[in-house]
Amino acid sequence: MRIGVLTGGGDCPGLNAVIRAVVRKGVTVHGHEFVGFRDGWRGPLEGDTMQLDVQAVRGILPRGGTILGSSRTNPIKIDGGVEKIKENLAQGGIDALIAIGGEDTLGVAKQLFDKGVKVVGVPKTIDNDLNATDYTFGFDTAVNIATEAIDRLHTTAESHHRALICEVMGRHAGWIALHAGMAGGANVILIPEKPFDIDKVCAYVESRFKTRYAPIIVVAEGAHPMEGQMALQAGELDSFGHVRLGGIGEMLAKEIEKRTGKEARTTVLGHIQRGGTPTAFDRVLATRFGLQAIDAVHDGDFGVMVALQGTDIVRVGLDEATKELKTVPVSRYEEAEVFFG
Ligand code: F6P
Repeated sequence: MRIGVLTGGGDCPGLNAVIRAVVRKGVTVHGHEFVGFRDGWRGPLEGDTMQLDVQAVRGILPRGGTILGSSRTNPIKIDGGVEKIKENLAQGGIDALIAIGGEDTLGVAKQLFDKGVKVVGVPKTIDNDLNATDYTFGFDTAVNIATEAIDRLHTTAESHHRALICEVMGRHAGWIALHAGMAGGANVILIPEKPFDIDKVCAYVESRFKTRYAPIIVVAEGAHPMEGQMALQAGELDSFGHVRLGGIGEMLAKEIEKRTGKEARTTVLGHIQRGGTPTAFDRVLATRFGLQAIDAVHDGDFGVMVALQGTDIVRVGLDEATKELKTVPVSRYEEAEVFFG
């Protein structure tokens, strides 16, 4: 078979490990041939391809980013986009497609499958918010980066008796904030799933200062206050319609200073959480996803996404994977709340 591979959406440590596993097993065990599509769905849409053989995937296991490039191009939103992709796949003699991506990329994969394209999905996001898989690769790396940052913030916060706010990624789900906040001993964790009460946040800040230690607040970029509490709401959109990073952290610092009279500073970790080498956990997970994805293609099992359930790599329907986001359950947040203040 001639198999196309693409990576779509925000990049994520571990993408190259998936590509390597797919190609290595696909060529050496199953005898398939590969074509790389550049920059997510833009590749098949414009027929932009690159060579993807065993040589091309040498040495990429520990490398962050993706050798295929990525984009947020969504062919569904482009007039005639899906038909154009089908046409280009047929012209390029592509028998099947492996799409590595998050909710958007896999949503497109699902629609293409419904229209007759043989596609297998691989879940990817540092946000860990994809349904039907216990973890996505990239998440562990992001949590480790954020935890190290929080550890460092503790010492400078204490030296200057300041409240330090660490804003992490997570537009719709607070997984990174929850895990990094727990691992880093944050005094308050704020996530999009639970609108926060600014009075309570300030009470935690003040009680922490009373212990002679300085408070660390970890906030997900999509967290927001209860209605009517703060003048500005988080989630200002950029010109592409995406939530702009760095909004809520700054707003919180200002509000905390105003209400408590204590100095506050914000660190926005931003894309540092997505860049660089994956952790060993993410390399193994990404590799196992890649191995299962090429097996699914080889078996002719299309319209599925590979997923981690417990310690097993399984296949689930793309519809199951894309039907809703996996957000933080109340019970998980309550576990963390015990340590607030
Ligand atoms: O989907 C992953 C993610 O990292 C989100 O947490 C974040 O909101 C978004 O990507 C940022 O995207 P961009 O790089 O396009 O600004």
